[in-house]
Formats: sequence, C-alpha cells, structure tokens
Amino acid sequence: MAVIVITGASSGLGEALALRLSQPASTMHLVARRGERLEALSPRIRERGATPRIHMADVRNREAMQEVADRVLEEGGPPDLLIANAGIRGEGDGDSAMALEEILATNVLGVAHSLAPFLPSMRQARRGQIVVVGSLAGYRGLPGAGAYCASKAALMAWTDSLRLSLEPDGLTVSLVNPGFIVTEMTRKNPYPMPFVMSADEAAERIVRGVERRSPRIEFPLPMVAMVRLLALLPPRMGDWLLRQSSKEKGH
Ligand SMILES: NC(=O)c1ccc[n+]([C@@H]2O[C@H](COP(=O)([O-])OP(=O)(O)OC[C@H]3O[C@@H](n4cnc5c(N)ncnc54)[C@H](OP(=O)(O)O)[C@@H]3O)[C@@H](O)[C@H]2O)c1
Repeated sequence: MAVIVITGASSGLGEALALRLSQPASTMHLVARRGERLEALSPRIRERGATPRIHMADVRNREAMQEVADRVLEEGGPPDLLIANAGIRGEGDGDSAMALEEILATNVLGVAHSLAPFLPSMRQARRGQIVVVGSLAGYRGLPGAGAYCASKAALMAWTDSLRLSLEPDGLTVSLVNPGFIVTEMTRKNPYPMPFVMSADEAAERIVRGVERRSPRIEFPLPMVAMVRLLALLPPRMGDWLLRQSSKEKGH
C-alpha cells in the first residue's frame, strides 16, 4: 500500500512515471492544471490496479498546493513518494527578466510549494521519499536558455541542502537530472538532441534510481559526462566549445 504524489502528471515524464509507478493498492495523486488530461490518464492507472486521484492545481499557487496536500493527507496520510516534476522551459527570449520570473515561479517556487505542505507530516512519520525533477541543463548556462538553466541550477543547490536537513528525520531526497526526453517540451526543438530517449525509458531509469534512493539520478551517461566536463572547464573554454557547437548547428 503506497501513497504517491506526482506533479506535472498530465503529460510527458510525469505521465510516464505515474503509469510506471502504478501498482495494485497504490493511490496515485496526479497534479496538473489540465484536468481533462488527468481524467484521460485515470483509466490507465486503474487498469494497473492503482487508485487515481485527480488534483487540478497550479504549482505556482501556494494556497492551491496546500489544499492539494490537505486532501492527500486527510485521505491516506503522508506520501511514501512525493515527486515534484512539473516544469516549463518557456517561450521566446530565454535570457530575459520576464522569462526568469515566469520560469522560476514554476520550476523553483512551484517545487517548493509542492513539497512544503507535506514536510511536517512526513517528518513526523519519519518516512518517505522526495524526488525533484531538475535537468542536466542546470550544470551550465546555455545560450538562449539562461532562465531555464538557472532554475535547474537552483534546484541542485536547494536539494543538496534539503537532503541533509531532512536526513535526521528519516526522509530521503533525490534530484533527477535527465538529458533530452521526447515530450511536449522538446517536440518542437529546432536543434538536434543527442542521446534523446523516450519518456518511458526515462521513467524506467528514474524508478531504478528511486529504488536505490540515489541522491542524484542522472542520465544518459555520455550527456552527464559532457555537461559535467563543461561545468569544470574555465568559462572562456566552455564558451568557446559552446560557440563551436552552435556554429555546427548553424545558429
Ligand atoms: N523533456 C526533456 O528533455 C527534459 C529534460 C530534462 C528535464 N526535464 C524536466 O522534466 C519535467 C517534466 O517535463 P516534460 O519534459 O515531461 O514536459 P511536459 O510534457 O511539457 O510536461 C510538463 C508537465 O508540467 C506541468 N506543469 C507545467 N506548469 C505547471 C503549473 N504551473 N502547475 C502545475 N503543473 C504544471 C504540465 O501540466 P499542465 O500544463 O497540465 O499544468 C505537464 O504535466 C520538467 O521539470 C522538465 O524541466 C525535461
């Protein structure tokens, strides 16, 4: 019997995780703004023997997320697994102040709003796993995606801190940093996506990492090596490499 909460379950990685984690006797709390997409997912969750619960909510709204948590806690107590997956990449100029405001509201504050209302009861129960979905883009600012990269970099520092703060209470925190995944977010990407994978395959890798309670779940390996190396290089050298790669892609 498990209580699982997933934000951003209406498409892409969140939907794939919801299906992959659905098992008999589990209650799957699915959170997103597009309620009709969650309704459409529900029968597939039921087919796997789990019980779906739909929560139409915006992670940017602190009160709305508190209400979601109140409903979850009232029904089944603190979650065994809480996955803050909802995120956006944004449209237009990804380096602008407006993009920063919009993206941080969802990708950073939205994660905080998704976790905070559950923490007191999880701490009291002294059990539960917290999983936050970041990105390999958090390792290094990439041209035209400053706000997105900054949001995912913030999650790295924040979850490192949270992991140690919650450890004495018996809670574990994992950050997931995937490379490219085929979802609504990337479908219209005009550039090549090296080592791209399906949402199902990504969900499979995440579940394996969650089972091991890995502090960081990162994949695919060649991309992990590339971004980590890029982050270690002196900025001038990293900039040079990124410029060369933009020239090769013709933009
Ligand atoms: N795709 C990739 O290549 C890739 C790579 C690395 C990391 N990621 C991360 O993976 C996570 C999932 O993204 P995805 O690729 O699966 O994209 P996606 O298909 O666009 O899914 C994004 C999900 O987040 C939800 N969401 C967005 N804003 C929300 C809000 N304000 N309130 C509630 N829910 C919200 C969306 O639901 P509604 O629109 O219905 O609210 C949707 O379910 C994100 O954190 C993303 O940054 C993706």
